[in-house]
Amino acid sequence: MNKAIIFTALTVIGFAVAHERSLATLIGDDVTRVVGIPSGAPPTNDGYAYSQLSYNNDFLWIAGQNGYDSCGRLVDLDEGGNIWTRAYIAFLSIKATMECFNMPITQIPSTTVYLSPLPVTNASTTPADINRILLEWRSQVNVIQRLPEFWGNSTLPARAVVGAQWLSRGDAVEIEPKAVPRTNTLRRTCLDTRVSPPSAQILLRWTKQGIKPTTAIPLLRLGDNQC
Ligand SMILES: *[C@@H]1O[C@H](CO)[C@@H](O)[C@H](O)[C@H]1NC(C)=O
Ligand SMILES: *[C@@H]1O[C@H](CO)[C@@H](O)[C@H](O)[C@H]1NC(C)=O
Repeated sequence: MNKAIIFTALTVIGFAVAHERSLATLIGDDVTRVVGIPSGAPPTNDGYAYSQLSYNNDFLWIAGQNGYDSCGRLVDLDEGGNIWTRAYIAFLSIKATMECFNMPITQIPSTTVYLSPLPVTNASTTPADINRILLEWRSQVNVIQRLPEFWGNSTLPARAVVGAQWLSRGDAVEIEPKAVPRTNTLRRTCLDTRVSPPSAQILLRWTKQGIKPTTAIPLLRLGDNQC
């Protein structure tokens, strides 16, 4: 909420200066908030205490994404306490949202990646252990970003990696794109067309039917057709 207000204010200032647009057209209920991201992408099941995405004509804001399956369940960590699957799902949800706005994921200018070692620590975990775990997880996020379905060989976005003591539902990884300029000209969204984008369909098939989207990394097989 605060973020949306701040960015709305920045948008107002930016356009008043750069484009001489009337302030009156930008003040008011210019930001549209969407509680759930499009069909196939993971729903929240915590009472919809936030919007999964917000947008106006100029920017798209995507909520921090986690490794939830299509039923809204946080998937298990991969064997050895790895985060391949959770990070993959987070990026696929982000990509599905971008596709709704007719933009490739490569148009995201910057992300914040939050990593919390809490799920794999115990009373004898040392700071050196935590450092090792977070470095390993950061490498896993790096590998996922370079998959052809995400950035491939394209220039990567700017990024901050933050070690967090705790993430929602005790998760290990959360990925939040910063404000995304709406560079497409069509400006049609899947919310208008009611057609769920390809990445949302991939996510739905994977998490409901267990069809793994890539063989490049040891992602978990998910899903039993039941929520
Ligand atoms: C405690 O956590 C460390 C890593 O943080 C791990 O190496 C060790 O096996 C764990 N010990 C137990 C008893 O689970
Ligand atoms: C990235 O570049 C390498 C070598 O330049 C090439 O072999 C590889 O296929 C490229 N990958 C993608 C996803 O474009």
